[in-house]
Amino acid sequence: MPTTVLGLETSCDETSAAVVVADGGNAGATLASCVILSQDVHSVYRGVVPELASRAHLASIGPVTDRALADAGLDLDDVDLVAVTAGPGLVGSLLVGVSYAKGLALAAGRPLVGVHHLEGHLFGTALEDPAAVPPFVGLIVSGGHTLLIDVSGWGRYRLLGETRDDAVGEAFDKVGALLGLGFPGGPAIEREAARGDPGRYRFPRPMLHGGQRPADPDYLDLSMSGLKTAVVLAARSAADPEQERAHLARGFQDAVIDVLVAKVLRAVDLTGRPRVVLGGGVACNRALRAALREALAGRGRALHAPSPRLSTDNAAMIARAGLFRAAEAGRPIEAEARLPFPGLERA
Ligand code: KG4
Ligand code: ZN
Repeated sequence: MPTTVLGLETSCDETSAAVVVADGGNAGATLASCVILSQDVHSVYRGVVPELASRAHLASIGPVTDRALADAGLDLDDVDLVAVTAGPGLVGSLLVGVSYAKGLALAAGRPLVGVHHLEGHLFGTALEDPAAVPPFVGLIVSGGHTLLIDVSGWGRYRLLGETRDDAVGEAFDKVGALLGLGFPGGPAIEREAARGDPGRYRFPRPMLHGGQRPADPDYLDLSMSGLKTAVVLAARSAADPEQERAHLARGFQDAVIDVLVAKVLRAVDLTGRPRVVLGGGVACNRALRAALREALAGRGRALHAPSPRLSTDNAAMIARAGLFRAAEAGRPIEAEARLPFPGLERA
C-alpha cells in the first residue's frame, strides 16, 4: 500500500506538483506540500494560448517538482507512487506532465497512475476538510467544465446535470473580457460586482423556471450563452459602459449564483445527500459560496468548499485521487484531451 504520493498537474495553465501522505489504511490523506505556478503570459492574450502553455510547462515542471519534494522534506526515493493528470485538458499541456511523470517514475522505479482531472476536483476539498467525503452532491465549476454529480462513494459517480454550452468560468471570462476586465475574468468580476447595484440589471436565469419537473431534461442542466448575450446587449446599449461596469458585473454574477443555487438545491432534494462539495476555479467566488452555504443551511445541509489554492487547478487533488486509484498503477497512460470520467454513470 503506497503511503507517499507525488502528484503532477499540467492540464491547462497551472504547473503544479504536490506531495500527499496517506493516513493509515487509505482512510484519508495529509497534504505535505503543494506548489502551483500560474502562467501569467496568457493574460496578455485574454485567454490560454495552448502552444505557450506547453512551453511554459516544459520550463517549469522540473523546478516545481523539485520544490514540492523539498517543501515536504523528501527525496524522490521517499515517493511510493507518482500520480499525473492524464486528461481532460489541452493535449500539449497534458503531454508535458505525462511524459515527465513517466520519466520520473521510471528513473525512481516507482509505479505511475493516471488521474482524471475532474475526479481530482472532487477530492480537493477532503484534503482540508475531513467531512468532505461521500455521500455528497459535487458541483464542479471551472473554466472548462460545469458538472453536478451525485457521489455515492469514491469512484461511484452519477451525472445529474451539466452545461449545455459555456462552462461557468468560461462565461465569467467572456463577460470579463467584454467589460474590459482582463483575463481571467472571474476574480475581476467578483471585485466589480461587490460595488455594483443589485437592482440595476435583472438578467435572465437560463434553464430556470417554476414549471420544470424532475423528469425534464433541463431540470438540472445549465446554460450560460443566453445570459452572456443579455449582458452583451445591455453593455452595448449603455450610454456610458465604463460607469455601468460594476452594475453589469453584479447583474451577471447574481444571475449565475441564482441558477447555481437553485440547481444545487434541486440536486440535494432529489438525492437526499447530506452535503455538497464544491470544486473548480469558480469555487473561489465568495458571493457564490455564501449564497450556497445559506441556501443549504435552510435545508439542513452543509456546504464544503476548498480554500482558493485547492479550488483552482492544483496537483494536491491529483495526488489524492491518485492514492484512491493506486490499484490501477501500471496501466498504460496516454495524454487524452477528452478522457472519459471513470465510474461516471449518465442518467
Ligand atoms: O479550475 P480552474 O483553475 O481551471 C480550469 O480547470 O478551468 O478554473 C479557472 C476558472 C476561470 O474561468 C476563472 O475566471 C474562474 O475559474 N474563477 C472565478 C473566480 N476565480 C477564478 N470565477 C468567479 N469568481 C472568482 N473569484
Ligand atoms: Zn480544473
